[in-house]
Amino acid sequence: MAQVFSNLIGNAVRHGKVQLPIKVTLSGNGTTACFSMQNYGEPIPPNALISLFDPNRRFSKYSEGEQGASSGLGLGLFITAQIVEGHGGKIEVESRLEKDTIFRVNLPIR
Ligand SMILES: Nc1ncnc2c1ncn2[C@@H]1O[C@H](COP(=O)(O)OP(=O)(O)OP(=O)(O)O)[C@@H](O)[C@H]1O
Ligand SMILES: [Mg+2]
Repeated sequence: MAQVFSNLIGNAVRHGKVQLPIKVTLSGNGTTACFSMQNYGEPIPPNALISLFDPNRRFSKYSEGEQGASSGLGLGLFITAQIVEGHGGKIEVESRLEKDTIFRVNLPIR
């Protein structure tokens, strides 16, 4: 799970708008633990959103431009989703123009 937190928080730091806050929440209702990550900035394009966790159709904004030392492979979210599913959980994303990007992770509490 440390890898999940690191990937999602790392993405918010790296891909979100630098001047605006990142909001991390953790809540639970006795059966499910909910973790959410919210940031502002350029939204993820709708055509990329539908296959964001698919390794065969991976999307990284770094693959469009210059490849530098900090460029990503676009595999972080695939790995994150696999870990979450391995724990019996679910991950979802919402990203809207002029609004925000939110990743939500729901995990069963055993
Ligand atoms: N929190 C976020 N806010 C805005 N865009 C995001 C966010 N998380 C991911 N993205 C977009 O989705 C793409 C895919 O993310 P993913 O973590 O899979 O790959 P990456 O960060 O580019 O590279 P790496 O493999 O190093 O994680 C990113 O390149 C970015 O364009
Ligand atoms: Mg990443």
